[in-house]
Amino acid sequence: MRTVKLGLLGVGVVGSAVAKAIEEGDGLTGRSGVRLELVKAAVRDLSKPRSVELGPDLVTTDPNEVVSLPEIDIVVEVMGGEDPAFDLISKALASGKHVVSANKEVLAKRGDELLATAAQHGTKLVYEASVGGGIPILNPISDDLLANRIDSIRAIINGTTNYILTRMSSEGAAYDDVLADAQRLGYAEADPTADVDGFDALYKIAILGRLAFGTSAAVDSIHREGIGRIDAKDFRYAEELGFTIKLIAAAQRNDGGLLLRVHPSLVPLDVPMASVNGALNMVEVEGDLVGPLWFQGPGAGPEPTASAVLGDVLRIARQPDSNGAEQSTTEPLEVAPMSGHRCQYYIRLTAADKPGVLALIAKVLGDASISIRSVIQMDADETAGQADLVIMTHSALEANMQEAVSRLRSLDVVIELDNLIRVESYSHSA
Ligand code: NAP
Ligand code: HSE
Repeated sequence: MRTVKLGLLGVGVVGSAVAKAIEEGDGLTGRSGVRLELVKAAVRDLSKPRSVELGPDLVTTDPNEVVSLPEIDIVVEVMGGEDPAFDLISKALASGKHVVSANKEVLAKRGDELLATAAQHGTKLVYEASVGGGIPILNPISDDLLANRIDSIRAIINGTTNYILTRMSSEGAAYDDVLADAQRLGYAEADPTADVDGFDALYKIAILGRLAFGTSAAVDSIHREGIGRIDAKDFRYAEELGFTIKLIAAAQRNDGGLLLRVHPSLVPLDVPMASVNGALNMVEVEGDLVGPLWFQGPGAGPEPTASAVLGDVLRIARQPDSNGAEQSTTEPLEVAPMSGHRCQYYIRLTAADKPGVLALIAKVLGDASISIRSVIQMDADETAGQADLVIMTHSALEANMQEAVSRLRSLDVVIELDNLIRVESYSHSA
């Protein structure tokens, strides 16, 4: 049996699960016909306790040692971040090693350069684990769906925020406690603001946009909002209206090109995405031939991510010439501005509880060509003379909504515009 030698950059949550699966699976010889052997692994701190035991000769604090060892065939990069990952991956690819990475940040920000280096040196860079954790999504888009023009990708693609939102919604749990649990379970990024502020989902949708639509979007050209403004009240009101709240990442064709967006959304309770809970992810892909497809599974965590990493490793190990998730060859679409997005909106505001208030608010919306679908007065605080108003609009243009929001904020009767949440529309349900 042929032995394929691996170098590991990072032995944290994912790296430990990768090393453990190789060790416990006897080199994963079971179904693959090759034996994997881990020959060098880099960490930052040798004294840190790890869930896998690695002999002293195997571990180094110098990651350059891993990428320059001539006997290594495949480098697995699971250290995260842009630096020094970018240089290490580049070096490995240029010295004839294939690279498997789970690092969405470096792939979103510098993927084009890395893929060009791989192409120049006849090596492979594959990264299934970077999007959707254990869910196979990049390889199906690259291979199985090649006959399709992809029209839309819409996803719950960050396990940490989905876990937090699910527990806030079902138990009324406090944000900080749930985030701590997500960290303990190995879902969160080393810096969890990457999850809760939407950066992680943004990197993933940028990778999907490049693969499915050929669009190399600068990460700061993508609309991004995190989950920080979502309150227990929003879950309660959304449910009364027939919705739940999810952090959605989307890449969709429109007249202006490709609209990429990451933000919390109201999702109707009767569509598949509404029941994707905990650290599960779901990626909905619409192709012109196949129609809508839903890929669902564990989107974060050590073992599911190791499954995706090792799937890529074994594909290269068995067939170094096989295709992985490569650059798209479709004609690139321009990044379309968020101002051209159209959807319904949920507006929650705290307003003075007195006659004429609704008329003033309706006028601001009407002047911006926004038509109201329903207005509900929710919790009223009679002592303070104020109440929560929840307004659902008909479909409106983002540019008009932003203009209306700034005018609403300047009205004396609007004490606080607490939240503006977009509503996802679906032409299909399960
Ligand atoms: P992690 O637990 O923080 O592990 C990172 C590892 O890299 C640690 O072992 C760390 O060493 C090592 N490292 C970092 N910088 C280093 C440097 N300069 N030199 C040497 N070693 C260095 O992160 P993780 O959760 O495993 O995630 C790894 C990557 O996978 C990230 O890109 C992440 O976005 C991605 N990913 C994670 C998941 C998930 O569920 N966790 C899922 C999909 C993708 P020490 O241990 O000594 O600190
Ligand atoms: N922090 C990421 C998440 C890990 O929560 O989805 C998986 O990419």
